[in-house]
Amino acid sequence: MTKTSISDLPRHVGDQVLLEGWLFNKRSSGKLQFLMIRDGSGIVQAVSAKSDVDEATWQAGDSLTQEAALRVTGTVRADARAPSGVELSVQSVEAVSPSVDFPIGPKEHGPEFLLDHRHLWLRSRRPFAVLRVRDAFILSAREWLSEQGFLCVDAPIFTPNACEGTSTLFETEYFGQPAYLTQSGQLYMEAAAMAFGKVYCFGPTFRAEKSKTRRHLTEFWMIEPEVAYMDLDGNMELIENFVSGVVGRVLDRCKEELKILERDTTSLERVKPPFPRISYRDAVAKLKAKGHEFQDGGDFGSPDETALSEDYDRPVLVHGFPAAVKAFYMKTDPKDPESSLSVDLLAPEGYGEIVGGGQREDDLAVLEGKIEEHGLPRAPFEWYLDLRRYGSVPHSGFGIGVERTVGWICGLSHLREASPFPRMINRLTP
Ligand code: 4AD
Ligand code: MG
Repeated sequence: MTKTSISDLPRHVGDQVLLEGWLFNKRSSGKLQFLMIRDGSGIVQAVSAKSDVDEATWQAGDSLTQEAALRVTGTVRADARAPSGVELSVQSVEAVSPSVDFPIGPKEHGPEFLLDHRHLWLRSRRPFAVLRVRDAFILSAREWLSEQGFLCVDAPIFTPNACEGTSTLFETEYFGQPAYLTQSGQLYMEAAAMAFGKVYCFGPTFRAEKSKTRRHLTEFWMIEPEVAYMDLDGNMELIENFVSGVVGRVLDRCKEELKILERDTTSLERVKPPFPRISYRDAVAKLKAKGHEFQDGGDFGSPDETALSEDYDRPVLVHGFPAAVKAFYMKTDPKDPESSLSVDLLAPEGYGEIVGGGQREDDLAVLEGKIEEHGLPRAPFEWYLDLRRYGSVPHSGFGIGVERTVGWICGLSHLREASPFPRMINRLTP
């Protein structure tokens, strides 16, 4: 007997197969048991007829409760009414282990309850779909970057210095000296770009975000490409090609998942280059015209981002933010000393910033000045300054947040669902 996964059943019509999984749901009508079985790859209905199975199998079917572990053998039948196109006619059911009073039922549960039970909630339909989209996004991103000649270089998680400002640093103790959990692998990717040309890192990043918002996690994953000899324009082209390429692959890979999430994919199908580009100054003028209260020279809040993206049918690139609101490493615009060669990508439908990046300061003296201006300690950045001492070249890159992007693709109302085990200001468990 072949052990088969539920997702493979359509290739086994007419065969006798063994499934190992859990009971998702059950109905019975005296002479028939309808067992909804899940194995992680999908869900299938197994029909057990009292007249066709032995007493032990009928009893096992009767005693199974939600999330009980089971083994089933049966024959695969094509069934046009079934969502996957197949059903199983049961020959035998073996109860592997019980599940008593599984806390997550078909009824509605509040978000806190579900998050407290995330270790069990993972077995439900929405997490099934969202976490598969997440996997497809990561797979597609790595595949795309690899095809374009990027090398994956891992960045460290313990770091001696801040990358994205000191206000969101998680400090820890490292054998008697302070260390910080990384906020971004960027500075290390700059070193790697000088060694390998086109690189990226993919890993967890940490920010002590003290506010509760639907768009901030304290631990999130980022993909950060960095390219030597690339300027801001090249960076914007890379961002639009990367995002459209990867979104297209996810749409191809995840039709079923997006259906489960009832995601209207019309707007995702329009994610094709070129993306509209707007300067920070023009963006501010637009916001003022829309009646937004806006502090000149300030950063955008999420209502501003939503209002800006409303005017476009695809993601929009906003470039040239004031140097004052951006990190120390941003290169100053040679044509406008108040502006930096920075860029953010705003997703449509109110999902806001999903990408942040820019051209990096490549001049040693200017960078030394920036480190001082930002009140950063000099010593932990000596290695970074070396990159400007030995063959410094123009270079650029960006970081794309995995959860923000998955949240947008899936149409989630809160980022927490895009992470298997989300970390937020008030949540460290499970
Ligand atoms: O704009 P950020 O802070 O940029 C950087 O970290 C650069 N060093 C990246 C680079 O150029 N290599 O963050 C980049 C992206 C954001 O656009 C957003 O998608 C995500 O990381 N992000 C968060 N996602 C979830 N929760 C948070 N608290 C996030 N902060 C940033
Ligand atoms: Mg940003």
